[in-house]
Amino acid sequence: MKVAVLGSEGQLGLSLKHQQPLDVDVTYYNHKECDITKIIDLKKCLNQHYNFVINASGYTDVEGAEVCPDLAYAINAKGVDLLAMVCAQYNIRLIHISTDFVFDGLSSSPYLITDKTNPINVYGQSKLEGENYVFKHSSYNQVIRTSWLYSPWQNNFVLSIIKLLQNNKYISVVDDEIGSPTSALSLASYIWHQIMHNCFEVSPIVNFCNKGFCTRYQFAKTIAKLAIKYHIILNKVKILPTTAKQLNMLAKRPAYSVLQCDVANNQTWQIELQKIISKLAG
Ligand SMILES: NC(=O)c1ccc[n+]([C@@H]2O[C@H](COP(=O)([O-])OP(=O)(O)OC[C@H]3O[C@@H](n4cnc5c(N)ncnc54)[C@H](OP(=O)(O)O)[C@@H]3O)[C@@H](O)[C@H]2O)c1
Repeated sequence: MKVAVLGSEGQLGLSLKHQQPLDVDVTYYNHKECDITKIIDLKKCLNQHYNFVINASGYTDVEGAEVCPDLAYAINAKGVDLLAMVCAQYNIRLIHISTDFVFDGLSSSPYLITDKTNPINVYGQSKLEGENYVFKHSSYNQVIRTSWLYSPWQNNFVLSIIKLLQNNKYISVVDDEIGSPTSALSLASYIWHQIMHNCFEVSPIVNFCNKGFCTRYQFAKTIAKLAIKYHIILNKVKILPTTAKQLNMLAKRPAYSVLQCDVANNQTWQIELQKIISKLAG
């Protein structure tokens, strides 16, 4: 089994490396080594000997996408088009990661893979266009939608909250956004399991997020509790609930973006969060 991982230094890329099974031959390409917007890079790095490409790359700055939509579309949409085209030429199966932000958040029950998409920000729109390109060149590919990804590495909500807790007496966190926090390590394990057991026939799109849901405020409170338990922060910090409107962000966020995840042996977000925070404590 030969696999290429693109975007290898992002949090999912690093998580895939961390969780990699021993009996699979994997080549990791970071942004510099393989820019998915450049056909020359894709042709240089990929070839017919690969069975799978995992696209862990992406433009993930939701606020930045409102300011630089061209860049978001170049990476999340057009780059995916090129990548899917090259994969089809070499008969490689592409596993692409997408997001809960393809939905508008108006639902009050977990989103099914068949539910109507309707992104409300540039990031979500660019990711939805990317999803469509995945299947333009081959129906053999797979899109995995996930949500609220975090890991011990790079930029994510958990690390940002811990930093804020270390440097402030009180912080404010939105209490009107509901979703399912997902450990990138658990997503990586799921992807490897799918590859090793060749379970990709089930559906072209799958949802993967950890079990349960919460608001960002509840997520931050749980992070703080665990960070104290593992001595990552020493003093209790007051966490105040606020609203998305009050924060006046550039990008609108879906108010509710829980994905219906039917993956077996999936853990709750609280258990996965504890694993990551204990890891951060060393
Ligand atoms: N983070 C979330 O909450 C979340 C939620 C749902 C879905 N997702 C999706 O999950 C995937 C992985 O997310 P993540 O959180 O691991 O992202 P991340 O930490 O931001 O990593 C993305 C990686 O992609 C690389 N990259 C950017 N442009 C590239 C290009 N043109 N060619 C090749 N590599 C490029 C980046 O490199 P540089 O840093 O050098 O630019 C970075 O290493 C993405 O598709 C994202 O949309 C993320």
